[in-house]
Order: sequence, then structure tokens, then C-alpha cells
Amino acid sequence: MNYLNKKSIEDINVVGKKVLVRCDFNVPFDEQGNISDPKRIDESLRTIRYLIAHNAKIILCSHLGRPKGEFNLKYSLKSVAEYLSGALKQQIKMCKDVIGESAKEITSSLNEGEIALLENVRFHTEEEQNDVEFAKQLASFADIYVNDAFGTSHRAHASTTGVAAFLPSVCGYLIEKELRVMGEAINNPKRPFIAILGGAKVSDKIGVINHLLDKVDAILIGGGMAYTFMHALGYSTGDSICESEKITVAKDVMIAAKEKFVKFLLPMDNRVGRKFAPNTVYKTVSSDSIEEGWLGLDIGPKTEELFKEALKGAGTIIWNGPMGVFEWENFSNGTFAVAKAVAESGAVSIIGGGDSAAAVEKLGFAEKMTHISTGGGASLEFLEGIELPGIAALDDK
Ligand code: 3PG
Repeated sequence: MNYLNKKSIEDINVVGKKVLVRCDFNVPFDEQGNISDPKRIDESLRTIRYLIAHNAKIILCSHLGRPKGEFNLKYSLKSVAEYLSGALKQQIKMCKDVIGESAKEITSSLNEGEIALLENVRFHTEEEQNDVEFAKQLASFADIYVNDAFGTSHRAHASTTGVAAFLPSVCGYLIEKELRVMGEAINNPKRPFIAILGGAKVSDKIGVINHLLDKVDAILIGGGMAYTFMHALGYSTGDSICESEKITVAKDVMIAAKEKFVKFLLPMDNRVGRKFAPNTVYKTVSSDSIEEGWLGLDIGPKTEELFKEALKGAGTIIWNGPMGVFEWENFSNGTFAVAKAVAESGAVSIIGGGDSAAAVEKLGFAEKMTHISTGGGASLEFLEGIELPGIAALDDK
């Protein structure tokens, strides 16, 4: 599929039309119930503002969390409506339901430039089942469908995919930007092109590694997943996380990297702790000597230097997955050092969503990156070369 061939919001006349916009307002909340990171909402504003400026009647929809197909106040989009009202300085007409009386009444009486927000689409089991009737009902509210939910574009659900069968369907600015920036990095990278991959599990990243092996010049591995590779090399990894069923796969990846002349860097040293806890006793040891009773929780200082050197002069860097348990101060050094090195590299820097995005934000480097994806799972699948159903369903130019 040629992602860049999909119609965008500028390729269709929206003036005076009812436009259903699927956003990804699946944002995190703090303990007091306040939105703790509104990035996904903020990134949707450009599309919404374009529609306001073009006198469309705007119907927004999204999921929030995983409410398992039934109404649950905890997952209501009410707070998102309040946030949007403030950001757009305009009232958002919050519907009490998704396809019920409230939604029908509010969406049918919208004036040009007005905005309605449907309740959480996942209050209906039909959403995740990509139910045709449910998709048809959503479509019946509008003349045009805009998908701007990049973070959910890897899900073939009714509001991300099914609805596109019933309406002219285009992408919004957020999706257009994600596809353009990440597509350019993958298909036409400024070289050297380096991937940094971390996170807990090899199984989550194996598809990405295999796909990137044909694209990149070097892969730097950190985080919990590094220990499966070290184990595959015959190192003792103590009590570190290790996926024994992935050891053969890890070996194959390292052989493939060698054959393809892709530099494959593993940690030389690690900060290891006694147990998986923020204040556990810890020390730094080299990668071939992690003893029983200790587990790796971060890369060590020599690895920080190794990775920093490897990133110098990079043309493009893609980073997905933290180097250690960055949420805990004692084990955040590795992720901090890598974030700093990426920020200072001068390369086109692309940060996959989810944990890596959270790490870069928390450690204060967000502004220095070229692009931070709003998609966790979606950006991973994109980097894996998997077709995203929410994008595939949109009209071609
Ligand atoms: C995300 O947060 O990755 C998206 O909003 C998709 O959410 P999901 O994993 O619950 O489908």
C-alpha cells in the first residue's frame, strides 16, 4: 500500500458538510482524574481548526481506555470535551451516547462550525467487532469521514475502518504528518540510519528488527530485551528478564545482521539490582558477568558512551523503547543518556509513541526531537511494515 497516495482533508470539499472525525483521544489521566498528557488531543487540533475554518459541521468520536463494551463513567469522554472547549475556545456539544437519541439529536442540529463529541465508541461491543450495522449508524450522522486517529489505525474497528465503507473517506493532518515523516525516514533516510530499540520484550520488537535490518545501517539494543540477546551469546544474565523461547530467534537476528552488514550493538555493561524495585540495592557489572540473584534494570555507563559514539554523525535515528526502567530514578540514566545523545546528534530523530515518547517527555528532550509519534502500537506496526487497516480503508487519490 502506498500510504502517501491516500486522500487528505484538503482533497475533499468539506464546506457546509457534516464531517465525522475519528480521533485518538485515548489520553492518560492522573490520580485526581485530570488529563496528565494532552498531546494526542493537541495534535488533533489542526484538523478540527481546519474544519471550523471551512464551515463544516463537526462530529468527533474516539475511544478512551478499554471499557469492554459497556458504559462506564470512568471512561467517559466528558473531560476531553472540557479540554477541547478550552483549547478551541468554543463549546463542544457532548453527546450522552454514541448512536443513541442524544447523538442523533445533537448531530442532526449542528450549525456550521459547531462541534459535537460522541461518547466513547468502545461503550459498544460492536466497535471492536467492526460490526457493519454499527459502522453504518455512525456513518449515517455524516457526509464525509476523516480518520485522524493514527494511534488506533492498527485496529480494524467500526469507527476506524468499517465506517469508511459508507462515506467518502480521507485522512486528517495528524495522520498525514505521521505517515509523511515516518514514511520518509523508512523509505528515503538520510544516512547513516540508526535504530535504537529497547523495552522489555524481544517478542514485541522482533518484527520491527527484522523489517529494519533491510533498511538501517546500525541497530542499538537496550532495555529488558537485550538480555535475551546476551543469553543467546552464552552470557550469564542472572535473574534478568529473558524469553527462553526467543533465544533461537535472537541468534538468527544477529546472524542476519552480520550477513547484511548491519552493525548490531548490545550493552557492554548494565546497572543490575537485587530485585525489581525502585530502591533496590544496585551495582554496575559487565554484560558477561551478571550473577544469579541480580537482574538488569538499565544499561551501564560504558554502554551509554558506546551508544553516544555510535549516534554521532547519524543522519536518521528511529527510537522505540526505553533503555531501562526509566520511571525509577536509579535506573533512568541509560534512557536519559540516549535521549540526550539523540537530541544532540543533529539527525532526523523519530521517537515511537508509548513508553519512548513518555521517556523523552519526562526527561525533558521532547522539543529537541524531529517527530514524536502519537501511536504506540500503531507506530510499531508501521515500522514493522504491516498494513494499517485504518489507513488502508481510506480513499486513494
Ligand atoms: C493506544 O493507546 O495505543 C491506542 O489508543 C490504541 O488503544 P488500544 O491498544 O486499547 O487499542
